[in-house]
Amino acid sequence: MAASGPARPFLQRVHGTVSDHDRAHMFKQKAVTVWLTGLSGAGKSTLAYELERRLIALSHPCYVLDGDNIRHGLASDLGFTKEDRRENIRRVAHVAQLMNDAGLIVITALISPMDEDRAMAREIIGGDRFVETYLSASVDDCARRDPKGLYAKARAGAITSFTGVSAPYEPPTHPDLCVDTARQSKEASVSGIFDYLHESFLMDP
Ligand code: ADX
Repeated sequence: MAASGPARPFLQRVHGTVSDHDRAHMFKQKAVTVWLTGLSGAGKSTLAYELERRLIALSHPCYVLDGDNIRHGLASDLGFTKEDRRENIRRVAHVAQLMNDAGLIVITALISPMDEDRAMAREIIGGDRFVETYLSASVDDCARRDPKGLYAKARAGAITSFTGVSAPYEPPTHPDLCVDTARQSKEASVSGIFDYLHESFLMDP
């Protein structure tokens, strides 16, 4: 039977001999997680994949962890209660932490609506590797676009606990980056994030 509960007294951490510095040198970058947060329809996936495309074009190893995809596998047992969202975010944060340890840049695209859950993610990943990026499009902006038709369904009561309609979204109070996806073009939005990474995390080849 699998061990249960958080106490695992007979487990110890093991360490390899490859350092963060070795990996940074190999990949020409410092590992970082760009944590995109915002409402459904704010443009998280769009920006995440465009940023990924730009980084890969410059040979920077990176990968997108997108909520909709994660919920088809790693989090397929989870729904949208406060507790399930927290568990979803906890799992993604641990995956991001492992991928950062491997030297990769990670871009997450999760609503991650609660301040305390994003703080947990920052704690798991490490403050110096966590770039909280707020996509500030409002409920009205997102509902007007409604790319998946979910706001219409939520407002009609067909989807319960829908963020921004029947479940809360707490905007970050001090995000590292803020992107106004309702007013800025996709290109300008991605450039803002890319320039930030270029300044602090990317080394030129
Ligand atoms: S989070 O709150 O746990 O961070 P996550 O980003 O993984 O959410 O998943 C959000 C996606 O699930 C949305 O893009 C949307 O397509 C879908 N979804 C289905 N039901 C809901 C709901 N009740 N609230 C928000 N998103 C939902």
